[in-house]
Amino acid sequence: MLRREFIKGLGGVGASIVAPGLTAASETTNTMTSSELAANELNAFRSSFINVPEIYGPTQVNFDKPLPDGLVGTLYRNGPALFKRGDTEYKHWFDGDGMIHSFFMSGSSLTHKASMVHTDRFVAEQEAGRFLWPAFGTAFENGRSATKADDVNAANTSVLPVKDELWALWEGGSAWVVDSESLETRGRKVFSEETDGLSFSAHPKVDADGRIWNFGYVSGADTLIVYDLAANGQLNRVQTINTPNTNMVHDFAITEQYLIFVLLPITFEWPQSDKPVAFADMIGWDANEPVNVLVVNKSTLEVEQQFETPSFFAFHFGNAWQDGKQVRVELATSDPWDSLNEQFLRATQGHTLNHYTAEDENAPGAVELVIDMHKKMVSIELLPIIGGDFPVYDSRYIGNRTSHLFMTNRSSTLSADVFGFNQIVRYDRQSGKTQSYDYGADVLAEEHLFVPQKGGSEGEGWLLGSSYNWKEQMTSLSVFNASAVTDGPIATTKLPYHLPIGLHGKFVAS
Ligand SMILES: [Fe+2]
Repeated sequence: MLRREFIKGLGGVGASIVAPGLTAASETTNTMTSSELAANELNAFRSSFINVPEIYGPTQVNFDKPLPDGLVGTLYRNGPALFKRGDTEYKHWFDGDGMIHSFFMSGSSLTHKASMVHTDRFVAEQEAGRFLWPAFGTAFENGRSATKADDVNAANTSVLPVKDELWALWEGGSAWVVDSESLETRGRKVFSEETDGLSFSAHPKVDADGRIWNFGYVSGADTLIVYDLAANGQLNRVQTINTPNTNMVHDFAITEQYLIFVLLPITFEWPQSDKPVAFADMIGWDANEPVNVLVVNKSTLEVEQQFETPSFFAFHFGNAWQDGKQVRVELATSDPWDSLNEQFLRATQGHTLNHYTAEDENAPGAVELVIDMHKKMVSIELLPIIGGDFPVYDSRYIGNRTSHLFMTNRSSTLSADVFGFNQIVRYDRQSGKTQSYDYGADVLAEEHLFVPQKGGSEGEGWLLGSSYNWKEQMTSLSVFNASAVTDGPIATTKLPYHLPIGLHGKFVAS
């Protein structure tokens, strides 16, 4: 829904809503080649998937300025990386097999390396030399049908550091365990016999006490699975919740007492034949159906309250917290699923886009869901970040009120033909003001993570993120003072190659 309609629809609710330099390229045909693809505006996003080897590095480069004292550690990132085998290509960004990147930074030095996650799927398809199963958005005529979720697990969405392990996360099936030093794949994570192979989302939340909360979903079965894990990754409790709208659930939020789910009106239909079908072809969007908001009690894992709001789409949450009888939940809304999915497909295939621009007042944006537990009602307030995603905050304060929200969005310099983001935004709740940094017309900014400064107050620290210059076909890593985003990076380094545009990461301080 457009932002204006979103507001209109809720009117009165008080509210608002809303290459070269590759050091260890393998012999396998991994990607599109540059001769097939000129990096023009239509292919800005798509060109990041050319000439991607299975392994990068280790590659050591220097920042242009020394990093601040206290910023020592490793940024891990995950993202779809392998899009082509032989003459067959994936059509959707979410299809590509996962690649884990490690960026170790200390002083003025950055060491980057990366490796594909060796899921069962990846290993079998490597051996076969072709794609065997359908992916999120692509199915193959001569392919196999999936008999279980992990047949099609791409492990390509995010990472979770647990002890000395790194879990490569997808959302439809199991987590995969990767060695955090070598990046070698150790195997599929099995918490218990009961949960073996069940969906484990890519957006777990690490609570203030270290406990890990996560969920999974079962499409077409009105079932959410809630996981309560100890800090060491052992399963404490698992609970299933019967509720509508569990056909695709990407993220959630936690407060001191609650888990908050926002279940979107994504429809689901089982395929009518035995032919292999992509997941995206089984789901759809029904804008006439409401969004379901679930408030689950952390102690009992039971639904304490349930609400409906008019339809909107959102992938990602910022922070959430309880404020008296209210629960406030930060959300990054996007275009409705049907049109957003079309943009993903078009961008991945290098077709004409019709992306909103920075000036488009109808672009979706950041909102705050206000749940009144006493009056049993929900309203939505608009936050002043238009057209953004990848919300991050000071996660030391997860579940408690935070004043600073950081996102990526589109500046006015980015052509409407280019898919993605090129700007970093900081919102300060106290002042109501935003700050931004524009990477410019030729650069696509990936998720930027917030890294707190030890002993610093909430929101004090650094923003850390990679960006892809599609004209130069080079990836850089930049560090910002999180309190002075407008000033631009305080340190930047350019890798001697480019990386495929990825999804989510985590920083582990040394
Ligand atoms: Fe995500």
